[in-house]
Amino acid sequence: MTDLLFRSVLLPDGRTTDLAVRDGRLIDPADVSAPRVVDVAGSRVLPGLVDLHTHLREPGGEAAETIASGTAAAARGGYTAVFAMANTTPVADSPAAIADVAERALGASAEVVPIGAVTRELGGSQIAPLEEMHALGVTVYSDDGHCVANTDVMREVFERIRCFGGVVAQHSQDPVLAPAAACCHDPSVALDYGLVEWPPTAESVIVARDVQLAQETGARLHVCHVSSAESVEIIRWAKQRGVAVTAEATPHHLLLGSGEVPASAPDRASGPDPLYKVNPPLTDNEHIAALRQGVADGTIDVIATDHAPHPADAKRRPFATAKPGMLGLEQSLAVVIATLVEPGLLDWVGVADRMSLAPARIGSIPDRQGRPLTVGEPATFVLIDPTRRGVVPTTGRSIAHNNPYAHRELPDPVLATLWNGRVTWADPALGLVPA
Ligand code: DOR
Ligand code: ZN
Repeated sequence: MTDLLFRSVLLPDGRTTDLAVRDGRLIDPADVSAPRVVDVAGSRVLPGLVDLHTHLREPGGEAAETIASGTAAAARGGYTAVFAMANTTPVADSPAAIADVAERALGASAEVVPIGAVTRELGGSQIAPLEEMHALGVTVYSDDGHCVANTDVMREVFERIRCFGGVVAQHSQDPVLAPAAACCHDPSVALDYGLVEWPPTAESVIVARDVQLAQETGARLHVCHVSSAESVEIIRWAKQRGVAVTAEATPHHLLLGSGEVPASAPDRASGPDPLYKVNPPLTDNEHIAALRQGVADGTIDVIATDHAPHPADAKRRPFATAKPGMLGLEQSLAVVIATLVEPGLLDWVGVADRMSLAPARIGSIPDRQGRPLTVGEPATFVLIDPTRRGVVPTTGRSIAHNNPYAHRELPDPVLATLWNGRVTWADPALGLVPA
């Protein structure tokens, strides 16, 4: 392969460097021979982004997404690794299912790291063979979509994963306070449309329980898609006490409030637009501000997309019965720029940390992702122009179209994504052909 040379790019810390790529690694720019020089002078570079929370839907949900389409969307968004959630069909709750995902991911446009289910069939009672899945490399376990609500089960899982340094990524949803039908943050909207309310405490009481179980057992807890100010407070409190807890916020919870969600009909007779239905639900300015502050001060360790593709017919229903979830991989960095970088809450070192280094560390893959951009390291990085903007198109690289950012004007920062030297996405203007 021809050497690639990217001249005068800005590192997260503001230094300028040349990046030279040969055989998948960064080499000394003085050593390149007859390189292909790519004109990106003045653009920024970040280590390849890592998403701790992606629903790739394969196997079983290929009408919405496949590993190929989902990782193509990831590459378009600057990601070089995605953790694949276990709520597929069949559920990734056995070594055979984990091996199947790993095999299907050969040839994907990003590294796919399988997440193992915590309980069989995500049922919440029978613990999955955690150790056997760990033998295949699994370190992150999640019943995402469902909460591990049984306290005994959660404690036993913590005791077992502690032995090998695993982590439970919990979908915090108290099943009494927020039963399966819960979907609505705003009580008055719930009342208007006969929807079931999801109070913020439905999340925070589980977070409070879990940080105490993590402290008691010495195990690692990761809190998925934190959405409430109360949860941020509890996580901050737990971290101050040395609990091994980490947390994520999604782009949609950082940008979108339930108040600005357009009605699906002019008279709102049929309720809010189901495109914006997501678990946990979109909130309001108080919670959004607490989340942004939590990311800024490090209480929230990572941005994770919770990219949740759904086929059109699953969203073309009344709000109450539509499937929850929205796309996120392609616009995640754009939303982080708009909500955190541009308002001055996060600098580029912070972005690299929250979107690459921290998720790689939490997911136990820091040997190959979230690496420093120095000679000898894998050529795994994303080149960006944070000043570039555009209107988000209705179709992207996902098979599904439930993109809440479509039609919005947002940054369009990603110029090119390289994973181990392989160009997985490039703006056509660069003349780099993705392989
Ligand atoms: O909105 C959501 N969609 N939240 C989840 O926890 C699961 C996800 C999905 O799988 O669709
Ligand atoms: Zn979830």
